[in-house]
Amino acid sequence: MNVITTQEIKQQVADIPKTIDEDVKRDDNPVWEELSPVVWRNAIYSDEAIDNCMGQLFIQEISLFEEIIRKIKLENKKCALIEVGMGTAELFAKVYDECDMLIGVELSQQMIDCAFQLHETLRELNNKKVFLLQGNATELNKVLKDNSHPEDHELWRQTTTRLTCMCMNTFGILPDHIRDLCIKEMFICSGPGGKLVIGCWHRDSMKTGYQQFYSKLPQLCGECREEDFDFEKGNFKCSSSDYTSHWFVKEELSSTLIKCFPGDASKDLTIEF
Ligand SMILES: C[S@@+](CC[C@H](N)C(=O)[O-])C[C@H]1O[C@@H](n2cnc3c(N)ncnc32)[C@H](O)[C@@H]1O
Repeated sequence: MNVITTQEIKQQVADIPKTIDEDVKRDDNPVWEELSPVVWRNAIYSDEAIDNCMGQLFIQEISLFEEIIRKIKLENKKCALIEVGMGTAELFAKVYDECDMLIGVELSQQMIDCAFQLHETLRELNNKKVFLLQGNATELNKVLKDNSHPEDHELWRQTTTRLTCMCMNTFGILPDHIRDLCIKEMFICSGPGGKLVIGCWHRDSMKTGYQQFYSKLPQLCGECREEDFDFEKGNFKCSSSDYTSHWFVKEELSSTLIKCFPGDASKDLTIEF
């Protein structure tokens, strides 16, 4: 079901801007701000959901992150995991022990409250090594620096590898016009030597997604019909709600990443699928 992209920014990237394009519209995502965290969580992370395609995907996602974090730690570096749109912080709840810092930036305060209710350990580590911040992905670096990790914080030192990520199709549910800006913010956050992971749904699996997931879970996005899915272009627009998502192919994702990279992508960016 998934395509996961890992980019390693191999060398120093000169002149990375501190902020970008202040004029770009800072958009919210009302569907997600209003969505009940419990509905989202039950769809993917409940005991019953573990056997559905998304539940299986989550298991693979954890292994992927454990492996990346393990490699970072082998370099004797601190590992900071920064998740954009972390929802109920399910990934953090699985890998908190292996990371030195875990920072989530999430639009919905409801999701953050629910994350702390669900995960006792994250609650105990709150404001120590775990920070779940309410904010928009379009302002990732500002949210971090203004709220919890100012410029001189250990997070930004060369001794820390910043692994910035979006998981479980957060990338696909963003409004089209803010996607590039979010990726740029994530590249800037990871910085030279950092890593970025984008988890998103693959277009080839869109039919599976419709049949096994969306059509079975009207409480998630509303009743949907097959015509709501454009399998060619990878667009899902639910006819009974404002829920949308985009499903990617490899080439499309690569070209977006190359376009948004704040440096010479031909020299300094490695993309893996
Ligand atoms: C598909 S869910 C994924 C949640 C979580 N990453 C997971 O793996 O379970 C997308 C999440 O992104 C959040 N979100 C949507 N737009 C956002 C934005 N512009 N900035 C930050 N978070 C956003 C939503 O509120 C939601 O929690």
